[in-house]
Amino acid sequence: MTASDNVTTNQDSAGGVAAVVVLAAGAGTRMKSSRSKVLHEVAGRSMLSWAVDAAEQVEPDHLVVVVGHQRDQVEAHLREVAPAVITAVQEEQKGTGHAVMCGLAPLGEIAGVVVVTYGDVPLLSGETLRAMVAEHKESGDAITVLTARVPDPTGYGRIIRGADGGIDRIVEHKDASEAERAIDEINSGIYVFEADILHDGLASLGTDNVQGELYLTDVIAHANSVNRRVGAYVTGDLWQTEGVNNRVQLARMGAEMNRRIGERWMMAGVTIVDPATTWIEDSVDIASDVTLLPGTHLLGATSIATGAVIGPDTTLKDVEVGEDATITRSQGLLATVGARGQVGPYSYLRPGSELAADVRIGPFVEIKRTVVGEGVTIAHHNYVGDAEIGRGATLGAGTIVANDDGQARHATKIGADAFIGPHSVLVAPVSVAEGAHVAAGSTVTEGVAPGNDS
Ligand code: UD1
Ligand code: MG
Repeated sequence: MTASDNVTTNQDSAGGVAAVVVLAAGAGTRMKSSRSKVLHEVAGRSMLSWAVDAAEQVEPDHLVVVVGHQRDQVEAHLREVAPAVITAVQEEQKGTGHAVMCGLAPLGEIAGVVVVTYGDVPLLSGETLRAMVAEHKESGDAITVLTARVPDPTGYGRIIRGADGGIDRIVEHKDASEAERAIDEINSGIYVFEADILHDGLASLGTDNVQGELYLTDVIAHANSVNRRVGAYVTGDLWQTEGVNNRVQLARMGAEMNRRIGERWMMAGVTIVDPATTWIEDSVDIASDVTLLPGTHLLGATSIATGAVIGPDTTLKDVEVGEDATITRSQGLLATVGARGQVGPYSYLRPGSELAADVRIGPFVEIKRTVVGEGVTIAHHNYVGDAEIGRGATLGAGTIVANDDGQARHATKIGADAFIGPHSVLVAPVSVAEGAHVAAGSTVTEGVAPGNDS
């Protein structure tokens, strides 16, 4: 199960729009970053990939992302995460209206419904877009605008309603009168358009405004001028309309996204003792009856099976954890922990650590590229790399596998049920036979035969 399993899809009412155009050409200057703003991450995914994901949920025939600033980075990222997306270039940022013109250019003549969204509004959900499209189709309006009533509308375009409750026009903050600035209903910048009115409206745009830009918002006034109605879809979830302009907002948005992800997992039966200090990326999978203790970070393709207890203060990235395992104050990357495994406190599982069931890894142990058999104990201050350890073996305190001779790394094999006495060094390449006993304090440079002391 994934956190998004409970997203319902309703193909009949919303499915099928001609195109979604995602605007992402802006400079994002306030991020003060060499990285494009839309590539900054929220819950482990770029803001742009969240936007593309939401867009995909209205099943568009064409999904276009308008790129401009740092477009090489953005295009490379899209090729990786969403290869089916078309990119359209807006060389110079002449306003949101101009950006949509650029976005539609590669599509030629299109009919039907066109959705416009932004690449920097990560909490906008596919469900909201679907509901908007459904309401748009049902209403017969020419345009549906996602709006919200906010405590502080400063900076946003204001919604000017007409007598019938429709939207007459949108006025930008910079162009607004005092009376208009007092309006607290704002334009989110997310719209559903009938393609014909969008085409005509874009063709009618001028730059007679404070910013000298081609405003997409002026398409609304144009629709009214040709007697086509514009409706509002008002959301009470203000987060879904909020864009990110700087890193303070990025952190705020990240915390909110994390709160929502945590809440979904709690509703799915996961205990999260302290949601504020538990960070779970969108890609993580967690079974019911898992317990996450404070300070736990679950990242990437991590999956946790039922009954496991993770934390406190544990970070796992791309780690698979089996049923009823416990991982305490430890770090793991690209590793597997089998059922009932115990790791930590203070241990480090590096890539290629594959622990079978019932393995016990104690404090201050580092393991990498090692396959550990069932029931093995590596309990105190050990380093193990490039090794294979048979079932039931025990590595005493302070055992070191010297896998690196300064030039190359070599393999070590420890047979099932072998016992390595404390403070021993196994100098690879070397193998210890099944059931062999290595005395405490040994330096093993040659193979150890079965049953023999080294
Ligand atoms: C726009 C709306 C405003 C609304 C606000 C919501 C207009 C004229 N105004 O204002 O009513 O309240 O969004 O956040 O549309 N972009 C391009 N190319 C451009 C200009 C913008 O791709 O030439 C992209 C930006 O990267 C950004 C989005 O469009 O993702 C919005 O642009 P921005 O300049 O932030 O618009 P606002 O002035 O905030
Ligand atoms: Mg803006």
